Amino acid sequence: VAGDLSGTCLFLVGMMGCGKSTVAKDISEALSYEFQDSDKLVEKAVGATVAKIFSDSSEEKFRAAESEALNQLSETSNVVVATGGGAVVRDENWRYLKQGITIYLDVPVEALAQRVVAAGLEKRPLLVASGPDNSPGNAHEQALARLSKVYEERNKAYERADLKISVAKIASELGRDLNELPPS
Ligand code: S3P
Repeated sequence: VAGDLSGTCLFLVGMMGCGKSTVAKDISEALSYEFQDSDKLVEKAVGATVAKIFSDSSEEKFRAAESEALNQLSETSNVVVATGGGAVVRDENWRYLKQGITIYLDVPVEALAQRVVAAGLEKRPLLVASGPDNSPGNAHEQALARLSKVYEERNKAYERADLKISVAKIASELGRDLNELPPS
């Protein structure tokens, strides 16, 4: 496989909490490729955390910096990239993603909700309730509702990836509980 992939850049795509970082790190080690995280590149370029960019500026500012990071990454080779969950949404980004190979990690939203709540929601501004919607309630239920909506909006975009890995199917083949698999 490494021979076929040499000189390319692998982009892991998928929802928040699907395990992109863990899997990208594992693949990068297996292939002796470099590991990169597009959110970290954005934070470095802007000089603020993702949560801060959302709260002090706007999602638009974050998306522009994210596109720029993906553009730069698309010109690299022998790199495995954990992208942010929304990297697939902008059409422009597909120009960059398609320079490499895209791998979609598909995880059911119920398991995503468990993982993002366990990891802490403060790092995931899209899941933090705000405005009239901010009703008190169970964090898991709220995360599940938001993730389900985001998944519905993005599902078609994720399906544009070159490869799709059904994590639920693999977990069941391995006889493992999906929620025991490593988090994102
Ligand atoms: C986002 C996912 C986050 C981060 C930002 C927006 C999204 O990355 O890029 O908060 O739109 O789904 P992770 O997928 O690593 O959580």
